Amino acid sequence: MTIEFPSLIRRRRLLMHGGAAVATSSLLPWMRQASAASRIPVTFALRPAPAKAAILGQGKAATDVLAYNGTVSGPVVTMRQGEPFSALVTNGIDQNTTVHWHGIRLPNAMDGVPYLTQPPIQPGADFRYAFTPPDAGTFWYHPHEHTAHQMGRGLAGALIVKEREPPPFDRDLLWLLQDWAFQPNDQFVPGFDTPMEAAMSGRIGSVVTINGIVPAPIRVRAGERLRIRLVNGCLARFMALRFPGHRVTIIALDGQPCQPFAPPDGRVIIAPAQRVDLQLDTAGEPGRDYPVVDDFYGRRASYRLVTLSYTRQPAKHRSLPSMPIVLAPNPVPKPDLTDPVRHHLTIAGGMMSMGMAVDGKPAPIWGITDGHRKSDGMAPIFSIPLGRTALLRLENHTSFWHPMHLHGYSFSVLARNGVKERSPHLRDTVIVRPKEIVDIAFVADNPGNWMFHCHVIEHQANGLMTVINVA
Ligand code: C2O
Ligand code: CU
Ligand code: CU
Repeated sequence: MTIEFPSLIRRRRLLMHGGAAVATSSLLPWMRQASAASRIPVTFALRPAPAKAAILGQGKAATDVLAYNGTVSGPVVTMRQGEPFSALVTNGIDQNTTVHWHGIRLPNAMDGVPYLTQPPIQPGADFRYAFTPPDAGTFWYHPHEHTAHQMGRGLAGALIVKEREPPPFDRDLLWLLQDWAFQPNDQFVPGFDTPMEAAMSGRIGSVVTINGIVPAPIRVRAGERLRIRLVNGCLARFMALRFPGHRVTIIALDGQPCQPFAPPDGRVIIAPAQRVDLQLDTAGEPGRDYPVVDDFYGRRASYRLVTLSYTRQPAKHRSLPSMPIVLAPNPVPKPDLTDPVRHHLTIAGGMMSMGMAVDGKPAPIWGITDGHRKSDGMAPIFSIPLGRTALLRLENHTSFWHPMHLHGYSFSVLARNGVKERSPHLRDTVIVRPKEIVDIAFVADNPGNWMFHCHVIEHQANGLMTVINVA
């Protein structure tokens, strides 16, 4: 099945600029057999560079952006589960960069974290990434150097790992959600990662786009089974999506299939960096419009994200099966909780801790500690023996929401404030609410130094990050 973008304009732009991208589906059989990363031939070219993009749509000036292969959002990178992938990234911007393949359980050297897993890619230089994605699902990619500036100006794209057996949806829609702070001249508000944004909730823009453009109504037909892949690619904005007139079912979280469930109160909560795959059966009336609403920041700040606009055609299927589609699970090992390695990480900082200076330099606004050990950023805060189960308690001492992300792993969310989850979900990014305590666990089967950080980019950039070693 093809993955659809809601806007025709975008599709045309993709065709114009997508020339550098070679579809991985056209891999020759011998390419598929290559096992060692070094033998995986390059199948994709990605070039971050300055560009202009029509984010605001018709009648508005094009915005100066940083773009992968000329488009905001970047090209959809498609891989196949269990098949090798390789990308050559050529840096066309005037700053160091890297590409991080968010959520993919890949070898540490391919993780795209500068100074930790690779040297940064310097202007004009290139770097070859090669790995075999073990899990099918919805992921994304973005830079991991000067992230607030580079991602904030447009560098991010969706990454889809296709199942070996495609699930039986009528259509597969991708919505990469991003927000932007604009000036009246249709250019971005400059000065990313300001102290005020960093100490508070990060930069929350006022224009929200789907796949890089202010969305036009999305045409649907009655009686269809849709898969909607939501990716929150915002620097800092949380979302709570409601679909009035529809029943949506969550079928995967952060790329990992789950037992299908209805979102509590009909609100699909999605934090920065998280993904949610939804099943939406188009049970509305032909010819009618239905809004999709985001009310995360309360009623007064709620807005219509997009409109589902039904064609006049009669229902595609007369009746749809009442059971939702269950996606095949990915091969993620189950934590063994009989004798886990335990650590207790505390998240502190925010507004109150601004202005403290260490050696005349401003202290990081945010911090992570393990017992009495304070993270200094890039040095591992602790080490987990390879193969053991790690049980991490995350304790948020702040009055802010933090989507905490671990690289290289999908972890189980076991409990919140001591209350066990009935069916723990697998995630790579978990929301830790103000003052909340969240327990997560994973089998430490992937060796290396792995970033663990808040995905509100301004929090990460100002101390809310550490490194966990597995060896
Ligand atoms: Cu989206 Cu450190 O990652
Ligand atoms: Cu990541
Ligand atoms: Cu945070």
